[in-house]
Amino acid sequence: MIRLTSLVPDKSISHRAALLAALSKSDSRIDNFSPAGDCLKTVKALQDLGCPMQMDRCVLTVAARTSEIFAAPSSPIDLGNSGTGMRLLLGVLAGQPIRATLTGDDSLKSRPMDRVAKPLGEMGARIEGTGDRVLAPVTITGARPLKPIRWRLEPASAQVKSAILLAGLYADGETVIEEPVATRDHTERMLTAAGVGVTRAGGEIRLRGGASARLQGLQMRVPDDFSAAAFFIALGLLADRMGGIEMHHVGLNPTRTAFLDTVRLMGGNVTAQVTGEEAGEPVGIVTARPSDLRGIEVPVEWVPNLIDEIPILSILAAAASGRTVVRGARELRVKESDRIKSIVQMVAGFSGSVEEREDGFEITGRVSASGAPLVAKFARFPTFADHRIAMSVLIAAETAGQAVTVDNTDCINTSFPGFFDCLGEIHVQCDRH
Ligand code: S3P
Repeated sequence: MIRLTSLVPDKSISHRAALLAALSKSDSRIDNFSPAGDCLKTVKALQDLGCPMQMDRCVLTVAARTSEIFAAPSSPIDLGNSGTGMRLLLGVLAGQPIRATLTGDDSLKSRPMDRVAKPLGEMGARIEGTGDRVLAPVTITGARPLKPIRWRLEPASAQVKSAILLAGLYADGETVIEEPVATRDHTERMLTAAGVGVTRAGGEIRLRGGASARLQGLQMRVPDDFSAAAFFIALGLLADRMGGIEMHHVGLNPTRTAFLDTVRLMGGNVTAQVTGEEAGEPVGIVTARPSDLRGIEVPVEWVPNLIDEIPILSILAAAASGRTVVRGARELRVKESDRIKSIVQMVAGFSGSVEEREDGFEITGRVSASGAPLVAKFARFPTFADHRIAMSVLIAAETAGQAVTVDNTDCINTSFPGFFDCLGEIHVQCDRH
């Protein structure tokens, strides 16, 4: 069994920690803050808005706010590739009576912002972007107090939920969000850790406004990223020669770990043991051992808690015997790339038989003439500048034991700057065995 000693801090939790620390009335120290490009963009954005914060070797220190109101930025704020950064920051800025323009790279500029512009607009913020989908660059003019709203999340989205909750801190009444399918709840947990009550009952989340006054600084350590662990879980399942992979201090929030349930349904030998808690988030040890996987129909209700792991799941499906069906995943069309198209091209390049559907795909695995689980047909793969596609290709190539390159490795830095170091650590330990 190989023990991977370092992964990468959780991206979703790091974004939220920086944003809440910027709003709180006492100092914060966040250990194991993600050095990923996306999270550094959020830190830079908050600095541009006058929030005093410093990042030094994965420790983010944030001084308590001296003013109730952020500084109006003199130029557009660049969120790079990060949908989470842009949507959550819009939620925060909705309650700031200043005007700011947010922009990003080509991928981010093509992703819909209407899903946050609509509820935040009803709360009283003005958000302008291009066309019906309110594409970036978006200009927001916030207001205070905001109006509390009741909002039904359609489609399921933790980013939209979080943007509304962050704006709800500045509303003069109770904000209610109807969430038919629970999505990742890091914002709710962190708000609670910071002293603001958020309740969940019967599919409704409630937050009483005026709550920003109660936000305490955060003293916390960010768990490692389950979504990053998923790539090495896949490697542990597929690469017999490694005898399994183990990772410690991985975030095991149940709204993030549907990938483990999915892998188990495929016959995968994975374990997850909660060993502690950080800022209300369970953390623990994950193991994955070589397994013979079989195709499954992924339960549609699991998809929202599996959404970021679907690219690497498609590689498992290509290596499994039989047919795997993913439906109800239309959201993949508006991620860092059109991930349904990207997945279809990737799997086709690995000897999988794959059919595209409007809201998902179907894969028949193990179809290579040699009988090997995965065989790469090309030496170089397109990534569509999508970090999770790039890493999925590289993990698939690793299990196939083939030297494959991707057309873009820089994109990996948006979520997992240490990815190649982790692969290197695994090689060193494998050689020692
Ligand atoms: C995220 C929520 C998910 C996920 C994204 C991170 C978050 O997006 O795909 O990578 O941190 O809230 P949606 O909420 O749009 O589904």
